[in-house]
Amino acid sequence: MRQPTKHMLLLPNLILALLFCITTAGAMESTDCLECHSDAEMVGESFTINSEHFDTTAHAEMGCSGCHESVTEAHPDDGLPPSKASCKDCHDDVYKEYTLSLHGSNASCSDCHNPHEAKSPTEVSGFDMNRQCSSCHDTAETVESHDQWLPQAGLHIEALPCITCHTGSENYVITMYLIKRDQDNRYSNFKPAGREDLERLAGEKPVQELVDTDNNGLISLSELRAFNNNPTYTDMRLWGMMTPESVTHSYQILDNRWDCSFCHASGPDAMQTSYVAFPEKDGTYNRLAVEKGAVLDVLNGTPDFYMMGATRNKWLNIAGLLIIVGGTIMPIGHGTLRFLTRKNREGKGH
Ligand code: HEC
Ligand code: HEC
Ligand code: HEC
Ligand code: HEC
Ligand code: HEC
Ligand code: HEC
Ligand code: HEC
Repeated sequence: MRQPTKHMLLLPNLILALLFCITTAGAMESTDCLECHSDAEMVGESFTINSEHFDTTAHAEMGCSGCHESVTEAHPDDGLPPSKASCKDCHDDVYKEYTLSLHGSNASCSDCHNPHEAKSPTEVSGFDMNRQCSSCHDTAETVESHDQWLPQAGLHIEALPCITCHTGSENYVITMYLIKRDQDNRYSNFKPAGREDLERLAGEKPVQELVDTDNNGLISLSELRAFNNNPTYTDMRLWGMMTPESVTHSYQILDNRWDCSFCHASGPDAMQTSYVAFPEKDGTYNRLAVEKGAVLDVLNGTPDFYMMGATRNKWLNIAGLLIIVGGTIMPIGHGTLRFLTRKNREGKGH
């Protein structure tokens, strides 16, 4: 038999390459889709996708057509609505866990997630996690119903994502977010500071340098104190939340979340890990680690976050324990603690 020539060996590759060209020439790239779909004037508000937010997600890797397979070259003139992939196709485990949970028939995946802005749990702020719930569960009503057994229910809900108590999520850390109030209205409520707010304050510098002044990627206790005591930032402060590092979708009413000590009496070893999370341009949050133990420095390190039972300070701990044990002395003990530990909480609205 004759030896195959070099050309004959190349032939199959050529055919493959040609085929590849033919098939991909027809398919629109994500950038083509976004030429229309990032422009509300072209496609209308409800079909608009924020490309800045989409581009950095894990979902962007498969491209628009990865989930809208049936979209044709003639779209949108063909009048055919493109197919929409189901979350179940790729997230079978989450799907199974969620549908079997207490909440399985109450809300669908897209009620809580925008498929074009999928984020990992550590990229989502605790506030945004709670926003995923408050579209259906009115916050004031939730506070009222939880107030029947949970003291300071309003504060708890501002310091904990709902999923902390309602799923089997794990590995809790303290994440601090920058919150701000209106400069012109000292009595306005504090709100999470947006990217633009921080950019305005930081000027030329990266926003992280507002707290991480030496820009080494780690926030030391002294940097944290300096931020808290800096008079330039009186309208800005750090708000701590206890957030899960890994989430589950096993929605439930957990018996041990009635038990205050699940969070409060974990001792000085807990709450060692904390972060400050900064909003990014793409809608995610980027966290910088804080020196271990900062949360225990309630006076200057984290004046707006005080986890009773987690501090080394004997007196504060005893006062905290008394509060946990005897609900009746709550009002007095609580007032005193706040006086001791708050920079100033008024205006936060609890
Ligand atoms: C030339 C502009 C244009 C381009 C390019 C374009 N679209 Fe559209 N798309 C539209 C318009 C306009 C609509 C609304 C059509 C309607 O009102 O039914 C739409 C609707 C859609 C819908 C919603 C259909 C529904 O009824 O729910 C999806 C999904 C969609 N497009 C996906 C894509 C994808 C994926 C691409 C790229 C492969 C793409 N589009 C490219 C203009 C465009
Ligand atoms: C991970 C899968 C996935 C990717 C990738 C994806 N989509 Fe979607 N898209 C969906 C799903 C699921 C829905 C239906 C959402 C719902 O039911 O609310 C949807 C809905 C839409 C809609 C209808 C409006 C809306 O928000 O419900 C448009 C328009 C659309 N997609 C366009 C795009 C474009 C353009 C891209 C690329 C930039 C893209 N999609 C990438 C899954 C995806
Ligand atoms: C075509 C496959 C596919 C579909 C359909 C799909 N996803 Fe994903 N999704 C992925 C991949 C791949 C990742 C990245 C790896 C991972 O976290 O599993 C991901 C990650 C995610 C993340 C985490 C993002 C991160 O950065 O860790 C969320 C949240 C998410 N998807 C939600 C959804 C929801 C909600 C739907 C349905 C509206 C959906 N996905 C549909 C493939 C898909
Ligand atoms: C009741 C609200 C809710 C529903 C319904 C829901 N999720 Fe989530 N999901 C969350 C929250 C909150 C997070 C954590 C923040 C984030 O990553 O968005 C999360 C996180 C995720 C993640 C990232 C997990 C990780 O560890 O990286 C994936 C993937 C995901 N969800 C997929 C789904 C899918 C698929 C469905 C439907 C079967 C679904 N979710 C239904 C609230 C919900
Ligand atoms: C699309 C609407 C919707 C969203 C979003 C939603 N829920 Fe629900 N949820 C419901 C409905 C409907 C019920 C059942 C009626 C009720 O108890 O209000 C429910 C019930 C519950 C219950 C009580 C379960 C029971 O059956 O007794 C808990 C706990 C709960 N939700 C937690 C959450 C959390 C946490 C989030 C956010 C991560 C969330 N929900 C987001 C609609 C929603
Ligand atoms: C500190 C833990 C904790 C937090 C935080 C929490 N819950 Fe609950 N929640 C519980 C417990 C425990 C119950 C059971 C109470 C009962 O049966 O009376 C419950 C009950 C519920 C119920 C059903 C009964 C009712 O009161 O309507 C809903 C719905 C609910 N929670 C939603 C939420 C939402 C939404 C959030 C966030 C805004 C949230 N929860 C935050 C622990 C918590
Ligand atoms: C899932 C975790 C969790 C559970 C369960 C929990 N707490 Fe808390 N608690 C917190 C967090 C987080 C804070 C907020 C700390 C802060 O922002 O200063 C807090 C704050 C408080 C405060 C206010 C302290 C202050 O600085 O004003 C009191 C009082 C309190 N909890 C009592 C209780 C009692 C009593 C229970 C049981 C019925 C309970 N907690 C259950 C996490 C929890």
